[in-house]
Amino acid sequence: MLCCGAHALPARAGDAGAGADVFKQECAECHTTRQGHNKKGPSLFGIVGRHAGSIADYSYSDALKNADWVWTEDKLHWYLSQPAKQANPGTKMKYPGLDDARQLDDLIAYLQSNH
Ligand code: HEC
Repeated sequence: MLCCGAHALPARAGDAGAGADVFKQECAECHTTRQGHNKKGPSLFGIVGRHAGSIADYSYSDALKNADWVWTEDKLHWYLSQPAKQANPGTKMKYPGLDDARQLDDLIAYLQSNH
């Protein structure tokens, strides 16, 4: 059989090249992936594996300043799928969330490649 279910791909098999485009469209207004370069939001250089709220010269909301997690791929999935409405009500990131799982995987693969 040639058929394959729509969800046959392994989870988190993102394409970093496609993710760079998602980043440009969705995130670049407020973020760069350059080290030490904050815009409206903090630099996302090395974000995968970085402690939340840890850029010293960026002024975070209390929600992120007091956050006690490290940004793993799973945590980024959780945050980026609907940040404003999350269990994290104090966040000041005004982003409505990315609900396309494919784009999210690509984006996270791209972020993973920046460190
Ligand atoms: C309209 C501006 C805006 C957009 C668009 C935006 N962000 Fe943000 N982002 C922010 C702000 C502001 C913060 C700081 C939030 C806070 O302090 O509560 C933030 C925080 C973050 C953090 C936490 C960083 C840390 O150091 O803990 C991550 C991760 C993040 N954004 C990823 C993204 C990604 C990926 C996208 C694209 C899908 C995106 N953001 C789109 C403004 C934005």
